[in-house]
Amino acid sequence: MESLSIKGGVPLRGEVTISGAKNAALPIMAATLLTAEPCVIRRVPNLSDVTFMGQILTSLGAKVKFDGATLTVQAAKIRGVGDYDLIRKMRGSICILGPLLGRLHRASVSLPGGCVIGPRPIDLHLKGLGRLGARITIQGGYVRARAPRLAGGEVFLGGRAGPTVLGTANVMMAAVLAKGVTLIESAACEPEVVDLAAFLNAMGARVVGAGSPTITITGVRELHGAEHEVIPDRIEAATFAIAAAATHGEVTLREARSDHMHAVLDKLREAGVAVERRGPALTVRRGNRLKPVDITTLPYAGFPTDAQAQMMVLMTLTPGISIITERIFESRFMHVSELARLGADIAIEGPSAIVKGGRPLSGAPIMASDLRASAALVIAGLVARGSTLVKRIYHLDRGYEKIDEKLKRLGARIERVEEP
Ligand code: EPU
Repeated sequence: MESLSIKGGVPLRGEVTISGAKNAALPIMAATLLTAEPCVIRRVPNLSDVTFMGQILTSLGAKVKFDGATLTVQAAKIRGVGDYDLIRKMRGSICILGPLLGRLHRASVSLPGGCVIGPRPIDLHLKGLGRLGARITIQGGYVRARAPRLAGGEVFLGGRAGPTVLGTANVMMAAVLAKGVTLIESAACEPEVVDLAAFLNAMGARVVGAGSPTITITGVRELHGAEHEVIPDRIEAATFAIAAAATHGEVTLREARSDHMHAVLDKLREAGVAVERRGPALTVRRGNRLKPVDITTLPYAGFPTDAQAQMMVLMTLTPGISIITERIFESRFMHVSELARLGADIAIEGPSAIVKGGRPLSGAPIMASDLRASAALVIAGLVARGSTLVKRIYHLDRGYEKIDEKLKRLGARIERVEEP
């Protein structure tokens, strides 16, 4: 197993190009199942989750070809039963359910388990697909859905923690080939949902309103092949922005979409970080004094849960008390105990982490538990005095394209090492 060995204390400086968004690429890849014609997707990040989704599409019968950041998929003939073990490994693979149902009117997809960030149910996905006429049962660890007549309907997707991103994607992808009009209320408004809608429309779908809580989908008889460029990854951009601020550096993020990052940039500015837009790039520079900020994670356009752990590291460096409240995934504080090993003072009270910042961090061996927690630990390692070993970085490779190489080009002293 690989680890990252980091020698902290070097301010990050220079330019980094932001890759395509993982959470846009995954559902867009699933959407290629909706047509027998070839689809070309550009700016696809080279990540293990993306490779994995490619394997899932292949296992369903599609031809999948990666050429650098360009992916071609042709799902000429596909079957509706996904490989149990392949799908079970990645939660994001649940988004093949909607397109399989739309195209084949039946689908069997293994039930994704919970994960370290929380239980992650799929009741809203199933409720939504049920509203379109699917009969759904859970048997032998599979979700089995059948819909001889898939018909448009009114679907409310609001849940306990707000709307669901992949649930919205699933219902949208089933509805594009359903008969009649589907109205999704309390739809997720994330930019990744908008990007999926753009791809579906390029395939000949009729999706209106993506990016707002009400999405209207008028079903069409069939979809055709299309080309699409995935949006830049707002969470990767946020991670590098926070790393620049944490290390007292100055980093220009090329291809960052600041219009997708208002909540993060607003909190960075409130914390005393200078953020400047220069054309399609963003420059982030740490001011002299950081200020504590309170953060609550919320559905888009609120502060993203996927940047919570990284921001917590910045707050551990900030003199004063910051309160970080996690409203999307209840157990998403796995990084807290690892940050404590580096000397951070953080207490968890229900859904909130109370960060008493300003104590210097010092390097230690620490363990990554999930993707974004891993990113936070890497930022902490870049700041901490001495050496930090971040173990189990396969989590990181699921969602950050060549993060160690990108950081190295910004001056970080970071090496990938094989764990003994
Ligand atoms: N929820 C339900 N029922 C459902 C679905 C969700 O109660 O049927 C709850 C969840 O438990 C959670 C909330 O609704 O409390 C929001 O979950 P959502 O469904 O929106 O999450 P997701 O679609 O499974 C995507 C991203 C996550 C990101 C969340 C929230 C992908 C592949 N994953 O997950 O990304 O945190 O939206 O923005 O798009 C990551 O990249 O590290 C990551 C975990």
